[in-house]
Amino acid sequence: MSRKLKAVLVTGANKGIGLAIVGATLEADDSTVVFLGSRDPVRGESARAGLLAEHPEWAGRLYALTLDVADDASVENAATEIASRYPDDPHPLYGVVNNAGISAEAGDMRTVLNVNVYGVHRVCEAFIPLLEQGSGRVVNVASASGPSFLSRCRPDIQTALTRADVTWAGIEKIMHRCLALEAQGGDFEAEGFAGESSYGLSKACVNAYTINLARSYPDLRINSCTPGYIETDMTRPLATASGSSADELGMKPAAEGAKAPLHLLLGDVGTGWYYGSDAVRSPLDRYRSPGEPAYEGK
Ligand SMILES: NC(=O)c1ccc[n+]([C@@H]2O[C@H](COP(=O)([O-])OP(=O)(O)OC[C@H]3O[C@@H](n4cnc5c(N)ncnc54)[C@H](OP(=O)(O)O)[C@@H]3O)[C@@H](O)[C@H]2O)c1
Repeated sequence: MSRKLKAVLVTGANKGIGLAIVGATLEADDSTVVFLGSRDPVRGESARAGLLAEHPEWAGRLYALTLDVADDASVENAATEIASRYPDDPHPLYGVVNNAGISAEAGDMRTVLNVNVYGVHRVCEAFIPLLEQGSGRVVNVASASGPSFLSRCRPDIQTALTRADVTWAGIEKIMHRCLALEAQGGDFEAEGFAGESSYGLSKACVNAYTINLARSYPDLRINSCTPGYIETDMTRPLATASGSSADELGMKPAAEGAKAPLHLLLGDVGTGWYYGSDAVRSPLDRYRSPGEPAYEGK
């Protein structure tokens, strides 16, 4: 009898942590097939070619998929493409890894939220219907910036983004408040936010959305994590600006950043939880260092 293949989509996978997650997934489980998402088809094909140059044995298990998480049509086209590859299976996907993301330096708050939060929402809306019922997984690559941001927010904002009954409408309300504050040049701190931190806000919202999704899809395992502090094109400018090396700043190689996402994709996990870079459950409203005891709260 042939084995059922585990088809996995990784967004923003043409470089950095996403590319490392693709390689780690193919390496960890030879029943996986990976769709390497890239908003630019040339960068996607080139990333695929790079992996195949080192691992020609992955040729039949690795495909590039054009997917811009900021663009509704691109996300829908990508979902249609995956569905059309498996005409006999309405639920061909085992996992979706929402890795694509941008830093605060990449644009204004609207741009950052559009990729980091609405991008995850678009991908989940389009791809969750394709996930295997009962065993499918969603992995949201958030950041320790989410809990760190929330730890400095007013208690009502902390509650709004960590409550078990959080809704997408409730998350959007907070994002809209922040966008209005940015447009008006308002005082974020006076309104209870930890300053004008679009990136921290975006990742706190992704964690809240993870809770909401897990409640909406109890048959799936849906979690988020931080990959850790990883040297990539996103973080390298920090090293350059500080005059220190990435290593001196404590940044780790991309392969380390794939560890927690891989655990959430293939390992023994709960659902609706947030994990640290050591793949240990962590709180949503304060930073937990790797090695500290696991968070046991609700
Ligand atoms: N590095 C860290 O220390 C760190 C820490 C915490 C969390 N994270 C998170 O880890 C994830 C990966 O970051 P990274 O460090 O690997 O950064 P990176 O090297 O800059 O890679 C980001 C990836 O996201 C893609 N991307 C950006 N906008 C996109 C869009 N609209 N649609 C599809 N793909 C898009 C990029 O594609 P292009 O090549 O086309 O730009 C790239 O493939 C992000 O969610 C980031 O927030 C990173």
